[in-house]
Amino acid sequence: MTTTDSQPVEVHLTPEDVAASLASDVRVGLTSDPKWLPAKWLYDQRGCELFEAITELPEYYPTRAERALLAAHAPEIAAVAPATTLIELGSGTSEKTRLLIAALQAQGSLRRFVAFDVAEPTLRAAVADLSEAHEELVVEGIVGDFERHLDRLSPGPGRMVAFLGGTIGNFDEPNRLRFFSTMAAALEPGEWLLLGTDLVKDPARLVAAYDDAEGVTAAFETNVLAVLNHELGADFDLERFGYVARWDPDLERIEMGVRSLGAQSVRILALDMKLELLDGEEISTEVSAKFRRVGVSRELAAHGFEMVGWWTDPDGDFAVSCARRSEAGGRLSDQL
Ligand code: SAH
Ligand code: AVI
Repeated sequence: MTTTDSQPVEVHLTPEDVAASLASDVRVGLTSDPKWLPAKWLYDQRGCELFEAITELPEYYPTRAERALLAAHAPEIAAVAPATTLIELGSGTSEKTRLLIAALQAQGSLRRFVAFDVAEPTLRAAVADLSEAHEELVVEGIVGDFERHLDRLSPGPGRMVAFLGGTIGNFDEPNRLRFFSTMAAALEPGEWLLLGTDLVKDPARLVAAYDDAEGVTAAFETNVLAVLNHELGADFDLERFGYVARWDPDLERIEMGVRSLGAQSVRILALDMKLELLDGEEISTEVSAKFRRVGVSRELAAHGFEMVGWWTDPDGDFAVSCARRSEAGGRLSDQL
């Protein structure tokens, strides 16, 4: 772990760590059949900018829906979960979170806000903005991977972990269940998990949200190949890839990927790897699962959480649930 003097940011991902885990993920994912890449590598500086542009697209309703929901219901959330520390996972710009911070402050409990993200420049900018806007709060940042570093959260009691935006949907089911289990172990009984989940709806709307007319989502997903070019000396020609987004009705998720336009071979210098792609072959870049109340409640209950609140936006597109860590079950510190 390293910190800098200028900002209270703990860094749990050194450049060496990042390089090693990218290399290992790419080696595993691109030698699998079908080929895939983990979604966390989408968020280099350009990826973060493209994600911000996505949140403003007319077709991409989740950000607006969750913002409307928090604008209407943050005071109720604060009443149900009067946290002293708010930790936000995958915080990005923490833009919508300001509504929650304001509500938790208004009812008098909040003392500390901790942003946690893998994207260091975006996280540092958010921490700097929030520190300036909230001199009365302790504002900190953690640069980390929420699939590896949940044991590094600031200590309790009185914590609320917010996982907003529907990012839980970017895990496949086994990793989602693993996340809930690690989260339950990381929290103390009585602490809270606040979860944003996009809801199952008309597939045509869902596909449009992930395959917008302007092609911003296509550029966001394809950008992962540029990340491999910069970081691993690969020679992907982005012009030779198309974009696919489809709804899987059985798994109730959008599946996104890039598709090879013609047969081609790609060198990945740092891995000493030559990748042969068939015409039309796809590389999965991300999934975005959609949820129903009954499923969220069941999965939370199975991992030691009791759902104590469920709110939706006026159109019923997106939900935020508040779950309380129940008494039963072991803590992460007991398992290590
Ligand atoms: N919560 C914000 C941002 C969502 S975008 C919102 O609702 O708008 C997803 C965020 O999660 C990005 O900021 C990305 O950098 C971060 N992220 C993705 N994978 C991550 C991982 N494994 N660990 C930590 N952060 C991650
Ligand atoms: C961050 N996450 C919740 C977004 C989503 O909706 O699944 C990522 C995204 N990918 C394409 N568009 C948005």
